[in-house]
Amino acid sequence: MSSENAIGVFDSGLGGLTAVKEFLRVLPHEKIIYFGDTGRVPYGTRSRDTIKKYAVQDAGFLLRHKVKMVVAACGTVSSVAGELLREQLPVPYTGVVNPTAYTAVRVTRNKRVGVIGTAATVNSHSYRLRLNKLDPTIQVFEQACPLFVPLVENGIINHHDIITMSVVARYLSPLRENGVDTLILGCTHFPLLREAVSDFMGKGVRLIDSGLETAVYAAKVLEREHLLSRRYETPQPEFFVSDTPDGFKSVAGLFLGRDMEHAVTQIDIEAY
Ligand code: DGL
Repeated sequence: MSSENAIGVFDSGLGGLTAVKEFLRVLPHEKIIYFGDTGRVPYGTRSRDTIKKYAVQDAGFLLRHKVKMVVAACGTVSSVAGELLREQLPVPYTGVVNPTAYTAVRVTRNKRVGVIGTAATVNSHSYRLRLNKLDPTIQVFEQACPLFVPLVENGIINHHDIITMSVVARYLSPLRENGVDTLILGCTHFPLLREAVSDFMGKGVRLIDSGLETAVYAAKVLEREHLLSRRYETPQPEFFVSDTPDGFKSVAGLFLGRDMEHAVTQIDIEAY
């Protein structure tokens, strides 16, 4: 395996670009190949078996590109199919759960940690299990926030917007009442609601972004495996989707936090 091979990142759709944004910042000399399963999104409402089947196909597509590492940027995939991928893949794998849990354990002071994600993520209790494995004295408060995903996809994210703040209050009130001092944003889409969530929870609550923690963790894994790129330039990322790329640029720009200049290719994911 060459250190100049790409890192493969995938997600149920385009939300995983919030993680790509962090990878480009933390690992600017790495080539990124991204697959967004836009034809089958959302995963967060699906059964465990379906999520596992999709995850194996998504990773299989990335392996065809000879990636040196596979990253599931998706909170749902990491929670439900993480162990399966770690066992099956011939290259290093990371999801978002473990790196994010490590950071939460390090930063909490009162040992009360909140976790928000899709229904599948919360029902899997992946974060609670991981957090308690690292520190059994931590109290974990989990909350599924399914309406956050369509809010973000429709751009209803402003912290002055009454609709945004009503949904935020509805979901996060129990976590605020329980006095969490650390809140894991356990879904690709949630970093875009950071301001709204922070306004509601209060400045004293630390918000942990799973994409950023995963990029930092991936850098450590690549270093340990002697797989960090030795290039000096910044390679162009490559993007693949499973539905028509029409409208990709505007939505992708929202998640990536900058204009998309790059080409995107549609593929048939059922073939993998
Ligand atoms: N990417 C998913 C996650 O992070 C959110 C969207 C979906 O439900 O597929 O859990």
